[in-house]
Amino acid sequence: MKIAIFASGSGTNAEAIIEATKTGQLDAEVVLIVTDKPKAKVIERADKYRVPVKALDPKNYQNKASYEQEIVDQLRANEVSFVVLAGYMRLVGKTLLEAYEGRIVNIHPSLLPSYPGLDAIGQAIDAKVKITGVTIHYVDAGMDTGLIIAQEPVRIESTDTIETLQAKVQKVEHQLYPRTLQSIIAESTE
Ligand code: GAR
Repeated sequence: MKIAIFASGSGTNAEAIIEATKTGQLDAEVVLIVTDKPKAKVIERADKYRVPVKALDPKNYQNKASYEQEIVDQLRANEVSFVVLAGYMRLVGKTLLEAYEGRIVNIHPSLLPSYPGLDAIGQAIDAKVKITGVTIHYVDAGMDTGLIIAQEPVRIESTDTIETLQAKVQKVEHQLYPRTLQSIIAESTE
């Protein structure tokens, strides 16, 4: 199964997924990293593993449809059959959703439907809840609204800051994402 990972930032989840493909934990090949941020750190991580990167700045396209059409063309040229969003901070539009219907997943740092959108970790701290977590879900046209595939809780201590909580959440993400992808891929190739 050839997969592409989309990321806008650091790319620690992208790296965890690539690692899982190398150790045989995830039966897939990451053939392309797509980023909307030409200076994102994920590019360095991809280079380390020699995974090709397409950095496409939406500003260089007339509209969202033409930007996404370029992405779809790249995905098809690389025979990508599954798209994994890992810190891709952009709503997926109709062009991409229709081309990869039911084959795009996302990870979000909260127990959805709580705290969708930006700064989910800050939202949980501000709400003074004791438990937040990680959700992996299929992507639809909404903001973090697609069908939930997997969730794992993370306890918030009174001493936690955004930084310490983020570290705990990411530790869970790096385990949960490869494991969940492996289940989805195993089901879809049965
Ligand atoms: C991850 O924590 C992911 O859950 C979050 O961005 C971070 C990316 O980290 N995604 C969202 O907030 C999506 N709404 P990474 O670049 O180190 O993988």
